[in-house]
Amino acid sequence: MWSLGGGVSEEEKLNRTQVRSVLRRSWSMARPFKKTINTAIFFVIISVLCVLAGPILVRVGIDKGIEPGNTSALNFAVVCYVVVTIIAYGAGRAQYMYLNKAGESFLRVLRIRVFDRLIHQSMSYYDREKAGVLVARMTADIEAMAELVQWGLLQFVGSFFLLALAMVVLAVLSWQLTLVALIVLPILVVASVKFQRDSNRAYLDVRERVGVNMSSLQEGITGVRVIQAYAREEEQIRRFSESNRALYRSHMKSVRVSTWYFGLVEFAGIAAAALIVGVGGWLVHRDVVSLGTVVAFVLLLANLFDPVQQLSQLYNTLQSAGAALLKLYGILDSEPEIHEVPEAQSLPHVGELEVRDVSFSYVGADRLALDHVSVVVHHGERLALVGPTGAGKSTLAKLMARLYDPTDGSVFFGGVDLRQATMSSLRRQIVVVPQEGFLFDGTIADNIRIAQPDAADDDIRAALQQLGVWDRFMAFPDGLHMQVRERGSRLSAGERQLVALSRAALVDPAVLVLDEATSNLDPGTEREVEAALDVLMRGRSVVVVAHRLSTVRRADRIAVVDDGKIVELGAHDELVAQGGHYFELVTNWQQSITTTAVSREPQNILHGDDGK
Ligand SMILES: Nc1ncnc2c1ncn2[C@@H]1O[C@H](COP(=O)(O)OP(=O)(O)OP(=O)(O)O)[C@@H](O)[C@H]1O
Ligand SMILES: [Mg+2]
Repeated sequence: MWSLGGGVSEEEKLNRTQVRSVLRRSWSMARPFKKTINTAIFFVIISVLCVLAGPILVRVGIDKGIEPGNTSALNFAVVCYVVVTIIAYGAGRAQYMYLNKAGESFLRVLRIRVFDRLIHQSMSYYDREKAGVLVARMTADIEAMAELVQWGLLQFVGSFFLLALAMVVLAVLSWQLTLVALIVLPILVVASVKFQRDSNRAYLDVRERVGVNMSSLQEGITGVRVIQAYAREEEQIRRFSESNRALYRSHMKSVRVSTWYFGLVEFAGIAAAALIVGVGGWLVHRDVVSLGTVVAFVLLLANLFDPVQQLSQLYNTLQSAGAALLKLYGILDSEPEIHEVPEAQSLPHVGELEVRDVSFSYVGADRLALDHVSVVVHHGERLALVGPTGAGKSTLAKLMARLYDPTDGSVFFGGVDLRQATMSSLRRQIVVVPQEGFLFDGTIADNIRIAQPDAADDDIRAALQQLGVWDRFMAFPDGLHMQVRERGSRLSAGERQLVALSRAALVDPAVLVLDEATSNLDPGTEREVEAALDVLMRGRSVVVVAHRLSTVRRADRIAVVDDGKIVELGAHDELVAQGGHYFELVTNWQQSITTTAVSREPQNILHGDDGK
């Protein structure tokens, strides 16, 4: 009990309406565990009654047994005491078990619900929220709850009952001695209020230092390659030890806060006992109270100081748990922007993809990323999107697959507005291969299966063979069962792209939206990726954000995107003949190819009709 029990900063403190809504929601979420909670409270009350029964039995033993010399009364009291102690042991265990069971079940439900919400959130949500903050919600905020759940609740319920019942017992035993005991109470209350404030401040300080320390540690580990490359190890160690020293100091400060308080509480306890013995002895001589009553009083009081201390800490724990819950409920309340409408319809198997007068701006951005864009991709057509960086190519690609909804205008497939389509048919018919494909920790096969979890090994094999990458993956020691590690760090950039393409091949969609990776590959791998792409593009509509000339040359039509608008649209030869943006772009590309002397592209690209 020497640690600080959580805390909140001023801005985290809940107002009364927030407290009410947090309580109401927690209560409704805890309803399934009501039985467990009730059982727990039952055992808490049994425990408290046992604690109170002890001193009363001592009183009986003294007044009825020892004083008059009545052995059987004394024996009776002793046996009862033993029985009560055994019951107390059982009830203590049971209350702990059931309270934790209820608390942990609550946390489990909360965690799953929050995660469920996060996983269903739209892309725009993640543009707004930082991943780090969301992870903190799931770890630190749930941790704050866990603290309350694991011991706070037990203490709160237990201490509350104990204090309330003990006051009644004391008053019944002797109102005079109760008044004497209450003399110490003001000291305790004042000290507790001060402690609660100080410990909250100390806790917040420790929390902040821990945060700084953690981020310094994390930065050091994730950036270790750069640190070593520039020989900045000593500098990093110095920074880390500095944040550690600060953390140590703030921990020590919090320990000091605890020591004066607990010291004082202990002193108050002894002072109260001394007063009771003194005044009680005097009252015994005057036959106002019995000797047993005085002893019972001293014993009972000793049992009361713990609950007072615990309740004083609990205020902080409750506050921080309330603040955490409020934030978590905030996540639960956020509706995903991209969701299926009630009477959604399936997308047809073939059709045109039409972008009709679409404008779009990212949340918080003050300018349009797309500005009244219209374009039609016919069935089986390949459209390449080219243009300078930041022009809006990826944005347009994402809207075509409904990763975002347009701010204005609509995207149709086969005449159906994507907003009216069922999510399953949408993800089945239109597949995006993003600029940087994300690989999960697991095997290559697991990663490909993300696209279609029920795919058989043979399906995967067929898809890979079709793309011509089967042999490449089979060359790994474990073949498709090779572990790719976090983010696929054991695979090369090219291999990661091949995995991403294999995923799309497995789904076999009507429309493929490809955001070509900007990273450069070695010539051999690049040819392999291109060959796989060629196969993948066959027999379907393709929209490809192209960063390579070779990709552009494979397209039927090209849309030049600049500053959120389509400024040129047409076949390669037409656009070159126009001598506009596209002509300039191709000339630049060609120059960079000739100057780097890796002339893998046909030199006569501007006028040739090869390569397709
Ligand atoms: N998630 C986002 N939140 C806010 N703004 C964004 C977001 N993604 C892109 N933008 C902005 O929207 C504009 C278009 O970005 P987009 O990613 O579509 O460009 P791009 O043409 O794909 O560029 P590149 O060739 O570099 O991939 C840019 O100004 C960019 O800064
Ligand atoms: Mg892009």
